[in-house]
This record gives sequence, structure tokens and C-alpha cells, in this order.
Amino acid sequence: MSMECSGARVEERSFALMSTGTRDAKRVTTHTLQEMKSKGVPIAMLTAYDYSLARLVDASGIDVILVGDSASNVMAGHETTLPITLDQMIYHASSAVRGVHRALVVVDLPFGTYQGNTKGALNSAIRIMKESGAHAVKLEGGREVLGSIERILTAGIPVMGHLGLTPQSIYKFGTYVVRAKEEAEAQRLREDAKLLEKAGCFALVLEKIPAQLAAEVAASVAIPVIGIGAGAGVDGQVLVLHDMLGINQEFNPRFLRRYADLHGVITQAVASYVTDVRSKSFPNADEQY
Ligand code: KIV
Repeated sequence: MSMECSGARVEERSFALMSTGTRDAKRVTTHTLQEMKSKGVPIAMLTAYDYSLARLVDASGIDVILVGDSASNVMAGHETTLPITLDQMIYHASSAVRGVHRALVVVDLPFGTYQGNTKGALNSAIRIMKESGAHAVKLEGGREVLGSIERILTAGIPVMGHLGLTPQSIYKFGTYVVRAKEEAEAQRLREDAKLLEKAGCFALVLEKIPAQLAAEVAASVAIPVIGIGAGAGVDGQVLVLHDMLGINQEFNPRFLRRYADLHGVITQAVASYVTDVRSKSFPNADEQY
């Protein structure tokens, strides 16, 4: 690459960063989300784990970007969310944060960094906030992690709760089927939602539970409730970006709506590139110096 070319690219890149960085976009805060719930404006949340996609998602008007531990599945190819580490989450979160200028960025505390140890939970949350520049953390569970939630909140770190299907407990559940269909589990979930609200969580994710129960919980708490596979009666929706963009073809739950077929787009583009390289039609006379 010539000096001229690399200089121009650096300039273009820093202009892009500057122009988005200084644009007049009012930042989404936990208070914005509370206001949205009060006014009945649905909250749109998606995952993102890297700079380039977080930047696109943010520029498209999303309210909340979740640097989810689903990165363990879609970025690293693990079968579950359990293996991802705190250092890896911080790497993903700090990359995403650099691309975001409007959305609230929430980061999952990974498995093993907050359960059964409130001091450890606080330290993990502080590391995420300090080293990534994110705005809040999310963790899975109800009464069993209440101590950790309360301790994190003492440091002024906003906490988002997560009830219903909590993938970090997959080996306890044994399956990814819909949770809280039985009354005992539904009642425990209702109580846990109230406990998380009382503790000071600013919002709550409900994953894969009956729509009627989710709507009931959303109506019973003052904080915003964001659903995934939890029906339309909640205050907002979240999906995993790679699933809704159709990059991942193997994951087909009923709740997933695909908004694009990037699997098709990417495989076709790569196949065309391979064909062009083999046939020497790439690069052509205009694509060289
Ligand atoms: O990790 C994640 O992506 C999540 C969403 C499914 C809510 O927790």
C-alpha cells in the first residue's frame, strides 16, 4: 500500500470517528429507558460484540446494546455461554463501546464471576466498567444472586437482571425449553422480579417464558422489562444480532424473526470472490496501481 493511500484511509477513518463522535445524538441512559416505559414507547435492544457491528447497530437507532455472553456461542463457537471469561467479555465490551455514541451499553457478567461471592461480583463489575467504558452490567438469577446485585449497586453501577431461561444454568435445567410453565416456577419468577426491582435493578430481561406471565410481570414492576421469547406484552425486545441477521442458520427457535439472510449474502460473496481470483478476473485494470 502506498503512503498516499494509507494516509487517505487513516484520514477517512478518523473523520468517520470524529463525525459520529460529535454528532448531536442524545445519549440513552437508564433514565431514558424508565421514561420510555412510562410513556409506553417500546425499547429496542440487540447484542453486539465488536466495534464495526456495534457502530452500525448504534447508527441504526438501537436503544440498548448488550455485549452478551452469547459471544461465547456466536463469536467463539462454544456450545454454551459458560466458558467465556471476564477478560474476553472486557475485550468484546471495550471494542463495542468504541463504536457506540448513542445507545446504552450493557455487559453480561460471565459465569463464575458473581455467583456465591459478593466481593468477587463487585470486583468483576468494577473491572467491566473501568476497563471497557460500558454503562451497566447484566447478570442472571433472582434471590440466589441478590447479595451480589446489592453489592454491585453500592458502587453506583447500574444492574440489569435476567430471569426465566438463564443460559448460564443450562446444566441445572438440562434443556433450553420454555421456563416457568408450571405455577411453582412462575410464582418464584414473579417474586424474583419484585425482589430485583426492590434491590434497585434498572431493568429486567425475561427470556423464553409464557407471554401471559411476562406481560403480568411487566405490569407488576415499575422498571422496564425487555423480553426475548417472552411475547409482546413487555416493555421492549432483545435479540442476538447474529441470529436476527441470519448469519447463524442452525438456531431456529419460534421467537426468532430473521431480518436478513447474511448467511446467503456472505457465502455468495465469498464464492464469487474465489471464482474471480481463480479466473484472474480480480483484480482488473482499474483495481491496481
Ligand atoms: O447473552 C445474551 O445475548 C443474552 C440475551 C439473549 C438476552 O443474555
